Amino acid sequence: MSGLRVAVVPGDGIGVEVIAEAVKALHAVADASGKEVRLTPFDWGADRYLSTGVSLPPGSLGLLQNEFDAILLGALGDPRVKDNKHAVDILLGLRFDLDLYVNLRPVRLFHERLCPLKGRRPEDVDFVVFRENTEGPYVMMGGNFKKGTADEVATEVDLNTRKGVERIVRHAFAFARRTGRTRVAMADKSNVLIHAHDLWLRVFKAVAAEHPEIESRHFYVDNLALQIVRDPGQFQVIVTSNMFGDIVTDLAAALQGGLGMAASGNLHPGRVSLFEPVHGSSPHLAGKGVANPMGAVLTAGLLLDHLGWKEEAERIEAAVRAAVAEEETTADIGGRLTTREVGDALVRRLLA
Ligand code: IPM
Ligand code: MG
Repeated sequence: MSGLRVAVVPGDGIGVEVIAEAVKALHAVADASGKEVRLTPFDWGADRYLSTGVSLPPGSLGLLQNEFDAILLGALGDPRVKDNKHAVDILLGLRFDLDLYVNLRPVRLFHERLCPLKGRRPEDVDFVVFRENTEGPYVMMGGNFKKGTADEVATEVDLNTRKGVERIVRHAFAFARRTGRTRVAMADKSNVLIHAHDLWLRVFKAVAAEHPEIESRHFYVDNLALQIVRDPGQFQVIVTSNMFGDIVTDLAAALQGGLGMAASGNLHPGRVSLFEPVHGSSPHLAGKGVANPMGAVLTAGLLLDHLGWKEEAERIEAAVRAAVAEEETTADIGGRLTTREVGDALVRRLLA
């Protein structure tokens, strides 16, 4: 076995710092089990875009599809690129053009100290959000009429296809079945979006009917937000649209210690998939050594899990859990260590 081939795109801002620690963790966990990961860095990001005008170089998609098992991405976004064109081109470009229709965002509390809700323990915050990742308003269909005038009209199309909705809903149920989970919740706004989200509701009911062993519940998304805060323990799997999933996963990240702890995967089962921490590039924190690398390290764990390295993925999670318990963390979750020191502490645990 020639090892895993991972394309690494640190990107901008704190992405660079946290990915350095995720890379250390990947090497450590591979070394500890006598396996090989081959990491190939790519400098896609604001600097390159500003100096060359190129965001995602031509041929990148084919290269990723043919030469790599997965992509590990830090974060994209830079104040010098006002419209964030490079970030949209690269992140949304990869999601769309690689057809990464599953945005997997696990929500797990590693220590009750990290949860802003009173009295919630790790077992109370443990669910997975499946966010549709290729449709909705993210397709950027729409336009302006009389732009810049007092009579301006602006439209944004919320695009939903039966194929798109069905494949993410099916993925959520299949995941529940495969992992022994017994509840799937779907959130939409079908009381107002009577066309697009009625499609979601009909598809959800039809797929739920094929899974009688799984308790399926439908929520309007505003109520879902309330319920996640009121009683997160009622959720095991949540499936929702692209935009609602974006919002709900930031809310849910707060329950697990903030964006610094949140990991994600952009998947198309069987194809090259993209893994990134949920947080952004946080330019104001960049270069200070304060960024929490745990979200990125956990993201590397998701990558390994996706590619079948289950034991190694579990070891990464256990290392993070132990480091959190021992307060070997950055200040955002109460510790005193720098980004690099947290990475070192995790590596020590992975090699132990
Ligand atoms: C996320 C981010 C992105 C999104 C932005 C940066 C385009 O918020 O991955 O959650 O909205 O999908
Ligand atoms: Mg977001």
